[in-house]
Amino acid sequence: MIEKINPALRNKANEYWSDFQYIFKTLYPNSEERDLLDIIETINTAYEDRKDSLKEIDKKRELAKDWYLDQKWVATMLYVDLYAGNIKEMENHLPYLRELGVNYVHLMPLLEPREGQADGGYAVKNFRKVNSKLGNNDDLIALIEKMHADDQIIAIDFVMNHTAKEHEWAQSILKGESRFKDFYYMFPDRTVPDQFERTLPEVFPDFAPGNFTYQKEINQWVWTTFNEYQWDLNYSEPKVFNAMLGEMLFLANLGVDVLRLDAVPFLWKKMGTNCQNQEEAVMLLVAYKYLIQLVAPGVLFKSEAIVAPNDIIRYLGAGGYEGKACEIGYNATLMNHLWHAIACENTVLLRTTLSKLPSIPPSSTWINYIRCHDDIGWGISDQNAADVGQNGHETRLFCSAFYTGIWPNSFAQGYSFQIDSSNGESRISGSTAALIGIQKSFIENKKEDLASAIDRFKLIHGIIFFMRGIPLVYAGDEIGHLNNFDYLKDAEKREDNRWLHRPAMDWEKALLRKEAGTLEKTLFNIISNLSNRRKETYCLHGNAKETIIPIESNTLFCVEKTLKEENILLMANVSSDFQMISKSALPKKWQGNCFREEISSVTCIYQGDTLFIPPYGVLWLTEKAGEIPQTKEYRLKMEAQTIPGESVYFIENISSVSIGEKARKITCYWVDDLGWHVDVNLVPGAWISYHWVKMYGNNLIEKSKDYYHQAK
Ligand code: GLC
Repeated sequence: MIEKINPALRNKANEYWSDFQYIFKTLYPNSEERDLLDIIETINTAYEDRKDSLKEIDKKRELAKDWYLDQKWVATMLYVDLYAGNIKEMENHLPYLRELGVNYVHLMPLLEPREGQADGGYAVKNFRKVNSKLGNNDDLIALIEKMHADDQIIAIDFVMNHTAKEHEWAQSILKGESRFKDFYYMFPDRTVPDQFERTLPEVFPDFAPGNFTYQKEINQWVWTTFNEYQWDLNYSEPKVFNAMLGEMLFLANLGVDVLRLDAVPFLWKKMGTNCQNQEEAVMLLVAYKYLIQLVAPGVLFKSEAIVAPNDIIRYLGAGGYEGKACEIGYNATLMNHLWHAIACENTVLLRTTLSKLPSIPPSSTWINYIRCHDDIGWGISDQNAADVGQNGHETRLFCSAFYTGIWPNSFAQGYSFQIDSSNGESRISGSTAALIGIQKSFIENKKEDLASAIDRFKLIHGIIFFMRGIPLVYAGDEIGHLNNFDYLKDAEKREDNRWLHRPAMDWEKALLRKEAGTLEKTLFNIISNLSNRRKETYCLHGNAKETIIPIESNTLFCVEKTLKEENILLMANVSSDFQMISKSALPKKWQGNCFREEISSVTCIYQGDTLFIPPYGVLWLTEKAGEIPQTKEYRLKMEAQTIPGESVYFIENISSVSIGEKARKITCYWVDDLGWHVDVNLVPGAWISYHWVKMYGNNLIEKSKDYYHQAK
């Protein structure tokens, strides 16, 4: 049979075909020779259609196998209509993306959707046609070529679990034709659906309860995991496998670099299970991967599997199919555990969960993100919570309460999405700025709170830009898009509050990134600086070894990366207080005196044997520090209010004193109109911790809180 494959593919076919056949036969034990011949025909046609320029790219990428592991990639995701109006206009925004440091752009669903409600484009009517409201296939090809010329890559969605009920396959069934009759799951009455429902969860219990929809035209119950207009494809049919292979290769041939495989956990159904994450769902992706490696080896798969930590990694091929499934996966575990850590100012669950996960195959990587177009689900497993002495259900309830702002002193302003009536748990919607506290402090005009919120924004991005994977900034986060309520005016969106965080890109707001002192400038610079710093930091390459360092502090997150001779250490503090860590708590190589902090390019030194990490601080430390700089004199202001006769003393805290030095106690001096001051000698980059006391004669009148100051 292999001889039927295009001779140009023969060498590669020798490499992949028998493995493919094996997995195909395991999935489809009753398939016939005809089914395999159909697949070969699909492959041959796609290969003949593939442009030479794309074949060139394929060749280069086959040689540089781990090209996507390079630390140079920084991603964003956006809706073309909301961002640019249409595909042609996207070109005008490429300079902006470049300025931000982004070179991997996920254009959210842009294929022809059904009319009316379409789940943000995830109800596709025609996989081979760009949504005419956005342009046409040629526009997309032109955009891709332009981006490729500029070393940018493009991802689009392949909504493989379902089609819109307006898709021609479903329409043919509704017309009573038989050609596509096995393409979907359909049942003449409720008997089988009811049996399935016993173990099936609901994805959209609020606006699409149940998993089956009655279609009166054909008197059948159709499987609809998501909305009633999204019909689940029946992948237990080899014909569906082949038909979707054809659609997938068609899209690959437009020139896209990454196919984001939507909702992959749902691809395979099995009675008595929750019909998610079945072994066969992973095997399907492996089978497709063999074929895409044959025809379009430059194209990557990105899995969208927002499920429990141990399941997510299976789509990257962990646990049996190492390097054979998707190259990239959404790192929902890091995302939701980071939000949890910031809410409770505690990193123990985050650290424990990540440390326990089996490593992903060396050839796979993550998309590390904080926000995307979807809700946030609290994928914190009962077992992982129990391992740190928590109750999973209560932890998930806490997360929702915190991020919807119900929890006392919460800084967040999100909204519940899809409450599970059986246990009260819910996911949440809301923009990054709303969840991280920027929105609340900005609206309430609380400057100190805003400063803390910005620090949290930097912290959380500083972590995702560091961890193994491609960092992704959800479009608009870099200028602080707040929650947006325009969707309530739109009957097609009103019921789905995920539109809160899917506003049109605010280009006027984006202009403020150029104005000094604006929030937009601050946030934009944080992201563009992280992009630049990441690209220049070789050790952040996906091949680096990543180790979570177990330390005693509950509020620090410490991760080391090593690549050849280079090392880098992430030290992140999720708490609103200063944290200190002693040298001896860290591996030997981090016990030298002086480091370079790569995000802000400053020298960072231990005071004595203590490293200071400011509230919500994030440090990327490398050993490139060189010499400890000379001390300089700095003037510090003491915030003491005094009456005549009182004097003020500066007192250095013992924790900020280097070995062999004594803590300083210095009499402060008064500067008219400015208050009490002191001059101290400090090493630039060093932190100092101090307090002041107010005395009247020998009587202590007041002792201040502890202050922390970095000499800059
Ligand atoms: C994915 C999409 C989500 C959509 C769902 C159904 O999870 O990200 O927006 O609702 O699939 O297609």
